[in-house]
Amino acid sequence: MSQDLRDFLKKAEANGFVRHVSEEVKREYEITTLMMDLEKEQRHPIVCFDQVEGSAFPVVTNVIGCRERFAEGLGVGPAEVASAYASRIKNRIEEVEVVENPPFAAHCLQGDEVNLYDLPIPTHFPIDAGPYVTSGLCVAKDPESGAETLGFHRMQLKGKNKLGISLHSRQRLWEYFRRSEERGENLKAAIVIGVHPNISLGSMALVPYDQGKYGAIGGLFGEPLKVANCLTADLRVPAYAEIVLEGEILAEVREKEGPFAEFTNYACFRSTENVFQVNAIRYREKAFYHDITPGMSSEHITVVAVQREGDVLNALHQTLPNIKAVHAPFSACGLFHCYISMKKIAEGQPQQAIYAAFAVDHNIKMVVVVDEDVDVFNEAEVLWALATRLQADKGVTILPQHLGMGVTLDPSTDELSRSSKMGIDATKPLAGFAPKIEIDAEVEQAVSRLHKYMK
Ligand SMILES: Cc1cc2nc3c(=O)[nH]c(=O)nc-3n(C[C@H](O)[C@H](O)[C@H](O)COP(=O)(O)O)c2cc1C
Repeated sequence: MSQDLRDFLKKAEANGFVRHVSEEVKREYEITTLMMDLEKEQRHPIVCFDQVEGSAFPVVTNVIGCRERFAEGLGVGPAEVASAYASRIKNRIEEVEVVENPPFAAHCLQGDEVNLYDLPIPTHFPIDAGPYVTSGLCVAKDPESGAETLGFHRMQLKGKNKLGISLHSRQRLWEYFRRSEERGENLKAAIVIGVHPNISLGSMALVPYDQGKYGAIGGLFGEPLKVANCLTADLRVPAYAEIVLEGEILAEVREKEGPFAEFTNYACFRSTENVFQVNAIRYREKAFYHDITPGMSSEHITVVAVQREGDVLNALHQTLPNIKAVHAPFSACGLFHCYISMKKIAEGQPQQAIYAAFAVDHNIKMVVVVDEDVDVFNEAEVLWALATRLQADKGVTILPQHLGMGVTLDPSTDELSRSSKMGIDATKPLAGFAPKIEIDAEVEQAVSRLHKYMK
């Protein structure tokens, strides 16, 4: 299958999912404001801003703005996205295919030629400290094992060749940088912009620290990931990226970064305050720039939610036999809450599920377990189950704040980003509970003839 975002966009265009804004737009606020207007209407087209003030590069946004986009990337239906991710991410394909002359080799600027201001990097919200790269996937290697990682990190435009970068999710890049800094070395890194949705999704995967993420992404594609070598660093990046920024995260350098309007719907002043120095910019012929709308946008939250659902599903399947579905809802930013439905066959299984979810993902603050008749993708049903099946003194478990690793961006965490955790078992007892009202299936069928009177 094609791993090139351009082919993905061509198909989306043919299927009517793309809108073009042909008049010039300002970099400051206009792009985000329009996207937020669409968000309010629950519309998620891919939008191409063909002309952006002061830049030769068009801006494309909402490439991964809803589950349908991931469904197209994976070749499944929207309801199967998380389960497809869960099963494929385990089928790692370790080998990669090296593309010798990648499209992004078309243009290369190094040293003094580097000027990040030529890119149409938007300023998204009035609270932001400045323009931010939001779709940049930072690629680096573990100085110990050599395992490759790539992940989204917000980057503040600070100079012609300087970006502020925050590693606040405290995962692989954070740890690899820490290992590198401990050796007194900068961490060589590259930022890729404009990649296929499977690469964006796979970049979020929870992978052991000594294993590469490219193997997981290969699993999503069902074939080796196509990569190309960097020019100034011993790194390989996805071969069909639109734009590649090569450089390094500087050891022993910290500079104020932020505030930035985050996907929690709050401005965040917390940051690891790292600095990325850009040594080279490479880009394709007619390259476009991908912007992910920050703030509480579907494009940011959907990728977070799908990965979480898939990785929690995998963790639950390890120990529990009858898990039905997992949902990380938009209302909790795709990150903080997790609804699990299951067919309980022994008391205690919901608690098992709660601990498994907390163990696999430190971002989760609340897990709700419901019976299999409750649709976890319908929050009204989840709340109904809480209202009618839960007695709080029995069904709620609270892990105190000083014990839980939390999310730096969560404004309710303490100064060390610690968070309490709450597990809720809202399942019925195995026997002796009130029968749920059901409609007789045959009568329902028969009554369908009466619906014409209701029109
Ligand atoms: C749009 C988007 C922006 C993100 N921004 C950041 C960020 O600024 N800093 C960070 O540490 N994690 C951020 N994350 C989460 C990381 O990308 C994610 O945890 C990833 O798996 C980390 O990669 P790593 O394991 O290589 O560190 C973001 C995720 C998304 C979807």
